[in-house]
Amino acid sequence: MQAAPRSRPCGRTSGKPSAERLRVLPPGKVKDAGAKYGGEFREIRKNRVIVRGIPGEHKKRVVKEQETGMQAGQETGIRAVQKFREKAEVLQNTRIAKGIYDLRLKTKQIAAAAKPGQFVSVYSNDHSRLLPRPISICGADPESGELRLVFRVAGRGTEEFSRLSAGDRVDLTGPLGNGFPESVLKGQAGKTVFLIGGGIGIPPMVQLARTLAAGDDEKGAPRLISVLGFRDELFLVDDLKAYSEVVIATEDGSCGTKGNVLDAIRGRNLKADVICACGPTPMLRALRVYAQETGAECWLSLEEKMACGIGACLSCVCKSTDIDEHSRVRNKRVCTEGPVFNSIDIEL
Ligand code: FES
Repeated sequence: MQAAPRSRPCGRTSGKPSAERLRVLPPGKVKDAGAKYGGEFREIRKNRVIVRGIPGEHKKRVVKEQETGMQAGQETGIRAVQKFREKAEVLQNTRIAKGIYDLRLKTKQIAAAAKPGQFVSVYSNDHSRLLPRPISICGADPESGELRLVFRVAGRGTEEFSRLSAGDRVDLTGPLGNGFPESVLKGQAGKTVFLIGGGIGIPPMVQLARTLAAGDDEKGAPRLISVLGFRDELFLVDDLKAYSEVVIATEDGSCGTKGNVLDAIRGRNLKADVICACGPTPMLRALRVYAQETGAECWLSLEEKMACGIGACLSCVCKSTDIDEHSRVRNKRVCTEGPVFNSIDIEL
């Protein structure tokens, strides 16, 4: 999920500014809207923010801001998902492997609303970087409000987050995206589920493993096998061992199977009824084919480059097997219709 954003803010293109454009209501203070997008705030009209001098707006959207959060309007085609903008307090930030950080935040509402497979948009405190960074949710405790984000330093934004320390505050919006569906989270008792993570695709598997391990009330939990692929240094292995069997593959052979996650699965002759995976596209592509061969149900969480994170800019689309209602082409927006897709619904 974590990905470097595009260089231009959502929906902006070069060209002559038009007199008046409609912008997606940005999270946070409405009157920051103009400055945020390089235009001039004019007014709010029927839940729409009118900003002057912004070229390149390609879709009109209605986003309602509520006192505690935002909800996308039905007519936009965006699923109505409750999301919140918060200034969260940093509880701790720990380096757990080379370039990998474990950030714990105290949130008011995001942790309580989060589902496995969703993500948050984290904003830089440096206002020269307008676009937030999408980061998968690794853990969320509804009671304490603690949100856990494990991310890789991949640019200036994430490098800034790596320097956060206890007591700092960070601006974030979430939970975003669809997450794993209820049909996956419930009713898996008696089945075997692979939780497959490659590199920085491993963190969302922790929250998923925790949820699946809790099982259904009377029916019990599925057999969970986490298959983890690393380039070299390991991380989050003990977290997944708490809920599942763990199988490791490393590119350099320093631990577990030398090779990739499929080498590890085939090497041990493992079989699953359901596959849930997040990681680099080549890994997901191979898993999609593997699932077709074995007849397993397969859910893939895509890591795409994102800009707006709320379905407005189309910078995150992937190819779909059916026609998208919103764009009228074979596309799906990873940030809103995903990041989790049934493997039969997308092309990779
Ligand atoms: Fe803008 Fe997905 S990031 S539509």
